[in-house]
Amino acid sequence: MKKVLILVLVLAMALALVACGTTKTETSTAPEESAAAVTGGKIGVAMPTKSLERWNRDGSFLEKSFQEKGYEVELVYSDNDATKQVADIENLIADKVNLLVIVAVDGESLSTVLQAASDAKIPVISYDRLIMNTDAIAYYVSFDNYTVGTLQGQYVVDTLKLDLKDTSKSYNIEFTAGDPADNNAGFFFNGAFDVLKPYIDAGILKVPSGQMKFEEVATAQWKTENALNRMQNILASYYAGGTQLDIALCSNDSTALGVTQAIGSDYKGTNTVIITGQDGDEANLANIVDGKQSMTVYKAVANEAVVTVDLADAILKGETPDGSLIEKAGWTFDCTYDTESYDNNTGKIPSYLLVPTVVTKDNIQKELVEESLLDDIRFVTDTPRICNSFAATEEMGRMIREARHPVIVAGHGCFLAGAQTVLQKLGERHAIRVARAVTGRKLQRIPKNETLSVVDGKLRHALLPQGEQDAEQRGDSPG
Ligand code: BGC
Repeated sequence: MKKVLILVLVLAMALALVACGTTKTETSTAPEESAAAVTGGKIGVAMPTKSLERWNRDGSFLEKSFQEKGYEVELVYSDNDATKQVADIENLIADKVNLLVIVAVDGESLSTVLQAASDAKIPVISYDRLIMNTDAIAYYVSFDNYTVGTLQGQYVVDTLKLDLKDTSKSYNIEFTAGDPADNNAGFFFNGAFDVLKPYIDAGILKVPSGQMKFEEVATAQWKTENALNRMQNILASYYAGGTQLDIALCSNDSTALGVTQAIGSDYKGTNTVIITGQDGDEANLANIVDGKQSMTVYKAVANEAVVTVDLADAILKGETPDGSLIEKAGWTFDCTYDTESYDNNTGKIPSYLLVPTVVTKDNIQKELVEESLLDDIRFVTDTPRICNSFAATEEMGRMIREARHPVIVAGHGCFLAGAQTVLQKLGERHAIRVARAVTGRKLQRIPKNETLSVVDGKLRHALLPQGEQDAEQRGDSPG
């Protein structure tokens, strides 16, 4: 425990330094990366927006991982504004970054600014979303986007046990896709639709709204509010008379959130609607635990950052990375090198593609905790003894502030309420995720003489055998 506390203190000092270095509102560089410490040069990272949870996580993983390799980082967020992103990238070029990592707000609006990057001999990695119509892109790093969609479609098929030979039952489905300006959105939608189309053709799946084309079901900027409004309209127009909605196929978690809200407020039926998602955002993990969302396709974005950093490092060392990087880098997660699937209209872009995972209520503990997909997470847990205590909440706040990593907060109901208060105050900066899934019995109990503990690394090392958990559970006051 002492070791953990020392580590936490060291991390806290590092975090304090990082915090001091934050100059402009949406830009940060790390002052501890003084000229002497920096060996690799400067990386410009352009993220789309802070308003969608995952980009906060991606931004901080990239920043931290590049810094650990000795690079200075300029990280900018562009408020989902394509014009602002062009200006932000122009500034990064003017600041003489050595390499750019970009998640495009609008994949089709960066050709001119990236010509400037190319003229300045700055390599560009297209991160997560493919940037179109420019030959300035050296590499693309992402998850297998089409597979994300097929996993969502297949989840519906498996959950309802759909069988093309059995047309005696039919189910109603509505689709909600992503932002048309995001090249990924079409891949997600097509992946899901290709799996479900045979069942639609056979009359097993019906779409009461008739909206089945990507343009009809797209959600501008992936906004929760847009998805909410559209689903409310659909419910009012096609389901008001008592028609049952069985499935809401949503391409990601921000849209699933809006659709779930619309169903919660405007759907008259009493059945549980199957709702899909993608990312494993905090609110959606909570909804999965509460049975309001059925699944999410989890993407370990920390690994996406690892691939990007190793790739950038190789490029800046003058190498021409290819499939052999996967072995050389010794990544412990699956990744494929693909030179065929992604064409940005100027040619095929060599791509490193990671593998997404389906997460449901049944496997959330196993996938996200025991398998330690969330390797980057520090776990914070509590004991019922200090439940409801203000001190516990304070202590929790301190630990969360000190942790450089995202934190999963797990605990009993009343404790979580206190933790939520702290999290709300801290805001998005810490990219904190709350998963009620990992509450209670399966977590390690904290020894009686300690109040709270950060369990460093993999939680599976902290799991108690079930028998001991039961004994502890019986002996404690309710949480
Ligand atoms: C990402 C998804 C994300 C969406 C909205 C996509 O480009 O691949 O993970 O949900 O953008 O942020």
